[in-house]
Amino acid sequence: MVNKIHFGKRIAALRRKKGLSQTTLAEKLGVTPQAVSKWETGNTVPDIDLLLELSRLYCVSINEMLEDIDLIFKLTGKRIGDDGISYFVSEQERSYNKKWVEEIQKNNWIKRNWNNAQAENAALDEVGKSIASSGGIILEIGAGPGGGFMPYILKADPDSTIIISDLSPTVVKEWKSFLDKTIDSPNLYYAAFDFCNIPFKDNCIDIISDGGGVGNCEGSKAKALKEAYRVLKSGGKLVTSTGFVNKETLSALPADAQTVLLEKRPDVFEDLYEDTVLAGFNKIDSIISGCWYTDNDDSTIADLARSLGVNLKFTGYIRYCTKE
Ligand SMILES: C[S@@+](CC[C@H](N)C(=O)[O-])C[C@H]1O[C@@H](n2cnc3c(N)ncnc32)[C@H](O)[C@@H]1O
Repeated sequence: MVNKIHFGKRIAALRRKKGLSQTTLAEKLGVTPQAVSKWETGNTVPDIDLLLELSRLYCVSINEMLEDIDLIFKLTGKRIGDDGISYFVSEQERSYNKKWVEEIQKNNWIKRNWNNAQAENAALDEVGKSIASSGGIILEIGAGPGGGFMPYILKADPDSTIIISDLSPTVVKEWKSFLDKTIDSPNLYYAAFDFCNIPFKDNCIDIISDGGGVGNCEGSKAKALKEAYRVLKSGGKLVTSTGFVNKETLSALPADAQTVLLEKRPDVFEDLYEDTVLAGFNKIDSIISGCWYTDNDDSTIADLARSLGVNLKFTGYIRYCTKE
């Protein structure tokens, strides 16, 4: 069955891409602007002659305008599930994660994080714009309750094609349920998979967007970066954000604190740069996105830093990594 709302959104996006107003399009087709508005809001579908004219004008087939495509099937060979999500891991939440996902649901984290992302944030808005303007197929990995960069990409261009993914099936279900109600875009797809073992074919993704997923990876970060490289098209980009205690900060700490921190928490010094190069990325541009101090939080690393009498500075980086 044709989803008229999605059809309307697709033809509205095609019209905008062509730089036409509803009135100009109506004039070209010999219909009223109200008729165009009704198609684009999913109230009616144009008759077959007008569909043919639209198809010629926009250089897309009638099917492409009418049909919801199963993009993930094209990229993996696996059909989408009945709930509109493609599962490459169990649909049941893993037991160790149950408490965390209950918190996400109980406290409406998805809605809260989405709303927070609507406020102006110069650095993240810039990342969203840069990803959205590259176009093509965007894969958001480890979306998490914050959605990574996805809310900022959609803010820049609500017509973006994004596959929203996470290892947690609940996170993916929560995002689908929220976004279906909020923007119901025909260009959003949902998949639950492990990004250390991405189920997609080689060279099929234009941009991988990672707003903190790899930095909080379950599994090997080096493997995740290699997988990202494999599935990207030539010329494609991995946009990844990571935060760590850099060498300058480490060397400025008292010697005994350095020794304990390096021994107990080597992970907080991992800058992933070498792993990114070893994965194959041959152009890496890093931008400092900000910094934070352990004095302001109650994480386990903050407790360790306090016990050593230091206030540890983390620096956040956004990296644009190109597969040339
Ligand atoms: C704590 S979140 C932080 C970043 C997240 N992008 C956000 O904005 O909330 C990390 C997310 O990465 C996901 N994740 C961790 N390891 C993963 C893996 N191997 N494959 C897919 N997702 C993973 C977790 O399930 C979690 O949702």
